[in-house]
Amino acid sequence: MKRLFLIFSLSQLLFLSPMQAQRADYRIVPLPMNVETDSAHTFTLRPEVGIAYSEGCEREARFLQEWVKQATGIQLRLAPNDSRAAIRLMLKTGDTPAEAYSISVGKKGVELEATERVGLFRAAQTLRKSLPCGPTDHIDLPYTHIDDQPRFAYRGVLLDCARHYFPVSMIKRMLDVMALHGCNQFHWHLTDDQGWRFEVKALPRLAPYGSVREQTVIGPNAGIYDGQRYGGYYTQEECRDLVRYAAERHINIIPEIDLPGHMQGALHVFPNLGCTGGPYPVRTMWGVSREVLCGGNPETLDFLRTVLGEVCDVFPSPYIHIGGDECPKDRWRKCPKCQAKIQELGIQDDGRHSPEDQLQSYINREVEDFLSERGRSLIGWDEILAGGLSGNSIVMSWRGTKGGIEAARQGHRVIMSPNVFAYIDHPQLKDVAKQPRTIGGYIVSASKIYSFEPLIPDSLSQEEQRHILGPQANLWTEYIAYPEHAFYQLLPRLAAMSEVQWCRPEQKDFDDFKARLPRLEKVYDLMGLPYCHAVE
Ligand code: ACM
Ligand code: ZN
Repeated sequence: MKRLFLIFSLSQLLFLSPMQAQRADYRIVPLPMNVETDSAHTFTLRPEVGIAYSEGCEREARFLQEWVKQATGIQLRLAPNDSRAAIRLMLKTGDTPAEAYSISVGKKGVELEATERVGLFRAAQTLRKSLPCGPTDHIDLPYTHIDDQPRFAYRGVLLDCARHYFPVSMIKRMLDVMALHGCNQFHWHLTDDQGWRFEVKALPRLAPYGSVREQTVIGPNAGIYDGQRYGGYYTQEECRDLVRYAAERHINIIPEIDLPGHMQGALHVFPNLGCTGGPYPVRTMWGVSREVLCGGNPETLDFLRTVLGEVCDVFPSPYIHIGGDECPKDRWRKCPKCQAKIQELGIQDDGRHSPEDQLQSYINREVEDFLSERGRSLIGWDEILAGGLSGNSIVMSWRGTKGGIEAARQGHRVIMSPNVFAYIDHPQLKDVAKQPRTIGGYIVSASKIYSFEPLIPDSLSQEEQRHILGPQANLWTEYIAYPEHAFYQLLPRLAAMSEVQWCRPEQKDFDDFKARLPRLEKVYDLMGLPYCHAVE
C-alpha cells in the first residue's frame, strides 16, 4: 500500500501535475522609489516570449535572459528588433538621471526604460528580483508601473584583500553580489602592513616579496602564530580583467594604496623608505604599526608617484584612495630627515595641527597634485583632515561620523562609512557563539546598519548635506580568511546597507525590510552564496 502510494505521488510529481503558475512580487530589496501595482490583472511570461532591446544594450538584455533562466528555468529568446518580443529594454531620450528607470507591465508585456544603459541594468535587476525562484514554465506578472532611482550616487563596499588575499573568482562573485544590491563602487583595499598585493611593473620585486608574510597571528594578537607562510598578489592583467568585469556590471573599482602608514609590506622590500632603515618584516600580526614611510626622504614621493602612476594606468576610476589612516608619528618626531623636511617647508606648530600632521598633509597635497594632473580625485580616511586639507579631496569618515561632518562643513565631498554602522567585520548577532569568530567588540547588526542616516540632519544644514556622496560598508579581513566567511559577513547585512544607500528615509521600515528579505535570500541560494540566516 505504501509502495503504491509512493509510486502514485512520484508519477504525479513527474507527469501529472501541470507546473504551478508563479507570481511576481515587486516589493524587493532595495525597495524601489515608487511602485503602483494592479494585482487584479496579470501578464503571463512564457518561454516563447522574447526579449528585445535598443541598439547597444545587448549585454543588459543578456543579463536579464540569464537571470530569468537562473530563477525559473525559462529560456527566453533574445533579438534586438523582435517586434513580437514582450520584454523590451528601451533607451529613451530625456534628462532623467542615468540610473533612473521605469518598468511598466501591462497587456502588451514588460517595458523597461531608461536614458542610459546603467538605468536599464538597474531595471533588469529589479525585474529579476521580482521573479519567483523555482522551476516553472510560466510566471504571472501583475500589472505595474515602477519609477525608481537611487537616493545616493555613491553606494560603496570595501573588501580588504591585504590582510587576506581573495582570489579573482571570489572578487567577481562579490561584484555580482554588489550589482544585485544596486551598489556601484567597489573600494579595493590592496596594500597594507600584512601584504602588498598590487603588481607594479617598474618595481618588479615589490609585489612578489611585499605580499608574503612568514606567518600569521592566530586570534586577537595573543602571541600565537600559525607558522604558515602566506601570500598572493594581483597582476595588472588580473586587475584589468576585474575592472572590465565590474564595468559590465556598472561598478567602478576604486583602488586603495594606503599611505604613508600601513606600508610595512612595501617597507619590507624597500627599507630605505622607512625612517630607521629597517629591516621590516611583512607584518605577521594585526593592529597599527609604528613603521611608516619616511616623510622627509625624497625617494618616498618618487616611490609613490611610480606606484600611483601605474595604479592610474590600470584603474580608470575617477577616484583613487590613498588611505591616510592610522599613521603614528613616533618615527617622524625622531627622524633627522623628517625634521629637516619640516624645517625646509617652514612648518610651524599652529596650535591646531602638529608639525608632523602637517608633514602628512604636505605628502597628501603632493599626491593630490599628481592625481589631479591625471584627472583623478583623491579619497582619504578622515585622518587626512588632521593637518589641513586641500579643497578637492574627498573624506571617507570611518571614526564615526565626526570627520565626515567636519569635512562637509569645510566644503569637502564626503563618503560616510562610520565604524559603528558600517564595519561588517564586526559580529552581526548578539550571541557570539552562533556565528564564526570575528574581530569581536561592538555588534553591527542588520538593524543597526538599517538605522543609519548618512546625511546627519541634526548636525548638517541642507547645503552641507549636499557634500555627502553616499554611504559604504567595509569588510576588513583580519579574521576572515575564506570567501565563504566573507560572504557570511556580507549577507544579508549588505541588503540592509543597500536600503540605506538606495531608499529615501520615509520608505524605510525594518520590519517591512525583514519581510521582504526571504525572497532576496532565495536569490542568494540560487547564486550559491552563504549568508547569516538570523537577522537582528
Ligand atoms: C580604518 O578602519 N583604519 C580605516
Ligand atoms: Zn623620516
